[in-house]
Amino acid sequence: MKIAVIGTGYVGLVSGACFSHFGFDVVCVDQDAKKIASLESGIIPIYEPGLEAVVARSRQKGNLTFSTELAGAVNDAQAVFIAVGTPTKAGEDQADLTYVFEAGRQVARLITSYTVVVIKSTVPVGTANKLRAIMLEANPSAQFDVASNPEFLREGSAVDDFLHPDRVVIGVNSPEAEKVMRNLYQPLSASSVPLVVTSSTSAELIKYTANCYLAMRIGFVNQVADLCEAVGADIREVALGAGLDKRIGLHYFAPGPGFGGSCFPKDTRAMIAMAREHKVPVSIIEDVVVANERRRVAVAPRIAAVLGVAVQKSKIAILGIAFKADTDDIRDAAALEVIPALQAMGATISVFDPAAMEHGRKTFSNVEWCNDIYSAAQNADAVVVLTEWNEFRGIDFAKLKKAVRGTVILDFRNLYLPDDVVKAGFSYHSLGRASRSLL
Ligand code: UDX
Repeated sequence: MKIAVIGTGYVGLVSGACFSHFGFDVVCVDQDAKKIASLESGIIPIYEPGLEAVVARSRQKGNLTFSTELAGAVNDAQAVFIAVGTPTKAGEDQADLTYVFEAGRQVARLITSYTVVVIKSTVPVGTANKLRAIMLEANPSAQFDVASNPEFLREGSAVDDFLHPDRVVIGVNSPEAEKVMRNLYQPLSASSVPLVVTSSTSAELIKYTANCYLAMRIGFVNQVADLCEAVGADIREVALGAGLDKRIGLHYFAPGPGFGGSCFPKDTRAMIAMAREHKVPVSIIEDVVVANERRRVAVAPRIAAVLGVAVQKSKIAILGIAFKADTDDIRDAAALEVIPALQAMGATISVFDPAAMEHGRKTFSNVEWCNDIYSAAQNADAVVVLTEWNEFRGIDFAKLKKAVRGTVILDFRNLYLPDDVVKAGFSYHSLGRASRSLL
């Protein structure tokens, strides 16, 4: 079976590569000639563990190619995946579907035999139906069905998430489309991965339901962490004690500086916009968004409160600007609020991040970019952890002590045991646990 994938971002590239890993013939198409050229030369433009190996193997076998030409990719494909961006419209909550609809129009004009056009991008409920109408308008004689196949890939584990999913969700409205989609995912269903086959409308809503629920869990545990601080409880033990209940679970139950990334912030807003359109109240999700924004804005003042007036002349070392560990992505990362806010208070900032420095350099100004933890901490009055990189978990506190000027560590990911930090000669401020000043 031949597949075309339109869009070579986090979703399109991983999906195309993994489908080629299943043995299908895949062409990944992108308008960005530079990106296609680097992919053709084996350079992967995104940081995704394991992706390079999958791409290299399939390119070697010859069943994964990259192109800027949609025609060549579409005209002998049985399935065309649309995996283009659906950014939040500026100043609104709605997802911008311009790229999805434009891709559909182009595909409609290129189809030469029955094709299933699959929406992989995260889109509001009803988009598959809208795309079908738009494609028929573009080419009334085109033989196709539109299917919805949302992805549940986490950045940093996307390849593993694709190859070992909890389930595959397929939204189809015809037996022909169902047959094609079942063939595509046969490599997974054969190893007993459940296929949830439903309408495209339900499939679209499943994606938002999953992401909004996970975002809600994070918002919830962040507020419980605040309560722990107020009453003197310990969030790690509270989350463990509650999370061991199999109805609750331990995942997505760790406090942080507020969720970020290219999905949760976008998908929660899109769900609110969709509900508003249908006049259905979703106040819980609205509160999740408001609480998360409040939490993000509160991080810098929390740092300033520990440093006091000295913050104006302090040097603060920021460890981690990626929105989470194992990615180079800084979209909607906590650092985007924290660094400018601290600079506005007069602090000078040094930064180290194992993967996101390049994106950081293009985003922040007046920052000292450092190659490791300890050079970032050189003469720092405070060290602030924003991303839960494993590299930070194994920090050498004795070495850190020699580098810093001050003795303050603020940890927004609860990476350390308070006793270890205090014993190393630091005061330690983390989430949902009592602050520990020097003995
Ligand atoms: C998410 C969904 O998990 C994935 O299924 C979907 O396809 C895309 O969106 P991603 O955005 O890559 O994936 O990151 P994820 O690992 O889910 O984390 C999202 C945010 O929540 C990050 O900012 C992370 O730091 C934060 N988070 C996550 C917490 O603060 N606490 C947690 O316990 C887990």
